[in-house]
Amino acid sequence: MNGKQLVATVEDTHRVAKALAADLQAGDVIALTGALGAGKTHFSKGLVAGLGSGSTVTSPTFGIVHEYSDGRLPVAHFDFYRLESEEELLELGWDDYLDRGGVVIVEWADRFATFLPSHAQWWQLQHDEESGGRLLERVS
Ligand SMILES: Nc1ncnc2c1ncn2[C@@H]1O[C@H](COP(=O)(O)OP(=O)(O)OP(=O)(O)O)[C@@H](O)[C@H]1O
Ligand SMILES: [Mg+2]
Repeated sequence: MNGKQLVATVEDTHRVAKALAADLQAGDVIALTGALGAGKTHFSKGLVAGLGSGSTVTSPTFGIVHEYSDGRLPVAHFDFYRLESEEELLELGWDDYLDRGGVVIVEWADRFATFLPSHAQWWQLQHDEESGGRLLERVS
């Protein structure tokens, strides 16, 4: 995909994320960036659903990580928004999550970008003032 794609509704976001999920492999890392309310959690919901999980995905902001193990690949869904230190992340078992052959999704990944492996896929979401929807771009 090149450039920014308009995802006009939450349903659009889910559809695009589900399509991406079909290509995900063990060990893949999805790094999500974007302002408050840009749609990162909804994108994550689409990824988890697209992996075949029937779980209800909720924002991991307060717990920092949620796990979903009932799909094609296990998912660890992180949110770095309230993460305070690198030590805290390591204590959560960050390295184990990366090594265990699942998919790792990280909201606010840019807060601790150096912790993301070089093969991470970076996706940015932005508010689109004109339409009220969101702009989605794969940035690396
Ligand atoms: N593609 C979209 N089009 C229109 N509205 C959207 C879209 N995606 C998400 N929203 C709306 O934006 C709000 C925030 O979405 P979401 O929780 O996914 O954002 P977030 O980036 O995870 O926020 P946070 O920074 O708090 O983690 C929700 O109310 C949702 O309905
Ligand atoms: Mg969120």
